[in-house]
Amino acid sequence: MNKLSISGFRQSKDQALISSVKELRSMVTKLGNSGHDQALKVSLEGLLNDLVIEKPKPLTLSEAGQPAKTVNISIDAPQREEMEQHIAKKLDQAKMAIWCHKGATRQEAIPVTKPTESYNRQSVTTDGNYQPRDYTAEKIIKNEQKSDRKGVGGRYADTSDVASIKGWNKTYARFSHAGTISLDDRGRPLNPTGATGVEGRGELGLWGPNHAADNIITRTNDQGELEVLLIFRKRDQQWALPGGMVEGEKDILNVALKELAEEALDTGDDSGKKNLSKEAIESKMQELKQFECFQKAQNTYKGVVNDPRNTDNAWMETESWAVHLTPDVADQMKIQAGDDAGDAKWTAVTEENLNGLFASHSQIIRTAPMIQEALKKH
Ligand code: BGC
Repeated sequence: MNKLSISGFRQSKDQALISSVKELRSMVTKLGNSGHDQALKVSLEGLLNDLVIEKPKPLTLSEAGQPAKTVNISIDAPQREEMEQHIAKKLDQAKMAIWCHKGATRQEAIPVTKPTESYNRQSVTTDGNYQPRDYTAEKIIKNEQKSDRKGVGGRYADTSDVASIKGWNKTYARFSHAGTISLDDRGRPLNPTGATGVEGRGELGLWGPNHAADNIITRTNDQGELEVLLIFRKRDQQWALPGGMVEGEKDILNVALKELAEEALDTGDDSGKKNLSKEAIESKMQELKQFECFQKAQNTYKGVVNDPRNTDNAWMETESWAVHLTPDVADQMKIQAGDDAGDAKWTAVTEENLNGLFASHSQIIRTAPMIQEALKKH
């Protein structure tokens, strides 16, 4: 490729080219720092060497106060188009390499907890030959919306036509705690924690973030020791914090309380029938909200979590809410498992008891100040 010189740029088209080159430069630095994919780094450096960018000259104003036509772009049109395409391609390659590297590093540092077999993840390679397995569960496909709308006919999953989804980064449902969501060339959102070895939605209904809310409910027992409320997830056969998915709700603490009522306070109705009705759940939630300790609920974590269902294009994010019950509230709360939970119990806060919980709950639980303090004492 001939050496090209871009100087005195002014038109927006040229500005776009200049920012691509700048982005490319920062990627080369990132690749250099990561110590990964040196071949790509060398080829990008070569490309950058072919480009000479001169600082734009200050514009001189003509006497009438109009900008004088002193801007000169020394790239002719066909060359520039070729160059733009070349840069765009390289940029995509560099982004992909950095994203794969991120995923591979994460997999090494935090392996997927209790990997789900149906996912059959491919290993994440950083040599430009990353070939994830495409997987979207049958149950998700059956529950798909026909368009970018929610809740029609009780269907909770997004349309498979991901490119038709609008409003990324605008509503809570399409927003990520990790920052602006990037889309790939097919319009699929990209997991902010990097590649996972599976593309598609796996067992998650929504493209991009799937939001959840969790409760870290603690009490002090008669011996003065801290206990935390855990439930047993039937589906995953693991202990977990009471919590669940955010479905169209705006008040996330409300979602957490609803899940608490469903999973851990299901004492049944008057006839002893389990799985509380909507009204019964609502009244339990209202009851909880009357207590001062629930009014002081503390949001201790917001972010992407290492959930076994995560894919390259669909992932879990959660907000956790910590509530320390006063003795009278603790006495009034009758713990009884319901809904997705097979069991619910108060558990002593010890390192051992908090390890091996579902998904990222072993980490999330440690974000509550009461838990941190209790662990220090042990
Ligand atoms: C669970 C939450 C959990 C989230 C992310 C949801 O299905 O109900 O408790 O935090 O997944 O792992």
